[in-house]
Amino acid sequence: MKNPITLQTLTIAAVIILLQNIYVTTADLRSDAQALLQFASSVPHVRKLNWNSTIPICTSWVGITCNDEGTRVIAIHLPGHGLFGPIPQNNIGKLDALRILSLRSNFLNGTLPSDILSIPSLQFLYLQNNYFSGHISTPLSPQLSILDLSFNSFSGNIPQTLTNLTRLTSLNLQFNSFTGQIPELNLTRLRLLNVSHNSLNGSIPSSLQNFPVSSFSGNSLLCGPPLSQCSFLAPHYSPNTPLSHNKHNKTLGIGVILAIGIGCLLFIILLAVFLFCFLKTKDEDSVGNRGIGRTPLDWEARVKISLGAAKGLSTIHSEGGVKFTHGNIKSSNILLSTDFSACISDLGLAPIMNFPPIKPRYIGYYAPEVIETHKFTQKSDVYSFGVLLLELLTGKSPLPSSGHDEVVDLPRWVRSVVREEWTAEVFDEELMKHPHVEEEMVQMLQIGLACVARVPDMRPSMDEVVKMIVDLRSSDSSEHRYSSEDNRSKGSNAQTP
Ligand SMILES: *[C@@H]1O[C@H](CO)[C@@H](O)[C@H](O)[C@H]1NC(C)=O
Ligand SMILES: *[C@@H]1O[C@H](CO)[C@@H](O)[C@H](O)[C@H]1NC(C)=O
Repeated sequence: MKNPITLQTLTIAAVIILLQNIYVTTADLRSDAQALLQFASSVPHVRKLNWNSTIPICTSWVGITCNDEGTRVIAIHLPGHGLFGPIPQNNIGKLDALRILSLRSNFLNGTLPSDILSIPSLQFLYLQNNYFSGHISTPLSPQLSILDLSFNSFSGNIPQTLTNLTRLTSLNLQFNSFTGQIPELNLTRLRLLNVSHNSLNGSIPSSLQNFPVSSFSGNSLLCGPPLSQCSFLAPHYSPNTPLSHNKHNKTLGIGVILAIGIGCLLFIILLAVFLFCFLKTKDEDSVGNRGIGRTPLDWEARVKISLGAAKGLSTIHSEGGVKFTHGNIKSSNILLSTDFSACISDLGLAPIMNFPPIKPRYIGYYAPEVIETHKFTQKSDVYSFGVLLLELLTGKSPLPSSGHDEVVDLPRWVRSVVREEWTAEVFDEELMKHPHVEEEMVQMLQIGLACVARVPDMRPSMDEVVKMIVDLRSSDSSEHRYSSEDNRSKGSNAQTP
């Protein structure tokens, strides 16, 4: 009688252990999901993540990879997703089975939470092309194999503890603001090192002297092989000391200086033009702000503004050559006179230096490729102009509101509504009060949608945009419209027996 009871007990125990295991693993995946949802709600993003507790995390969440068993999240890939703002502490760091984290080419800023760098399983960390600042905190995950923090604003010393990362094969710290000496790094697996364009000083440690010159260039106070010999006078005599702290000055050739000169001239000319036509600056938050004392713009005014701005941008593009971009087209940069003549302002010098000052609050105007590469082109100006047109047509702000995954950018919203054939729904209700303009509005909407095409080559040039807006007017001027309507009604009358 004893045996069956023992067997029974064992079976029950086995079942309990099995259930416990299942519970533990689902709890881990659940806590991973919890941390990710918290990340999505606290870090605003332009591209939709589609993270939602009702759909399976391992197969349907954008950018998420699980282990083979589907029990833990092991990788996050969100490059160029238009993520902006800081990453909160105690968030990504909770994903303690994470091996790969790629958040490169976003607009993330603030300090990097220390718990991310110390995730014990972390092997690959790609954070290049963001706006992170502050010091690199330690401890660092001993599993790290690739650490890429390049093109950020990190400062402070390169931590000595990097030398403990025996698995490190690639260390990219170029284009930051690291200071002090490079620590001796005895890392036998290290194949790729780049600390160029920082503010490092002193001599290059002997363990790193076999790396090429370009691993170290752009640090004016760094010396020793493979750079030139250290001399005690060398760091201080330079007559260009103030400039030499600028990490980009070395790339400023004569061409760029010339371009800056031409840019300045253009800027002054445009400024003079503005002084003539500037009477009223449109407020940053207006073509939806209907506060007391504000009159919504009628359709005539909106067309005039569109055409004026299109002509201005087209002139900027044709006068400046193919590489000349505005880089900051947004409604607050369109200045209006009392008769709604539009001028474009804020033609900065930054774009020609290819170092645009990207601000997260204007992210709604940036083309997808700008979000990815941080580089402006004439086609990305066209995209921004398209967003401006959609803003004029819909009366809606192009900024994605922060933290809510359902909220998408203006072009995507308009596209989705038009696809469902609710075209009339997209227009600003103020405009719908004027009964005869809908056809023009639909045409203008087509122009706007052409400008915000995803593929840059599919977008029209500003020249073509100007022509399209002019055509829209000439094919459908108000007299023509009314007279054709008269004719139509007369015609139908005539046919009535
Ligand atoms: C390097 O710069 C730091 C300040 O960032 C300074 O304290 C130190 O003396 C400098 N060392 C050398 C060798 O120039
Ligand atoms: C280091 O980075 C700079 C800037 O991206 C690049 O020009 C240079 O070729 C790189 N050098 C190495 C050895 O990777």
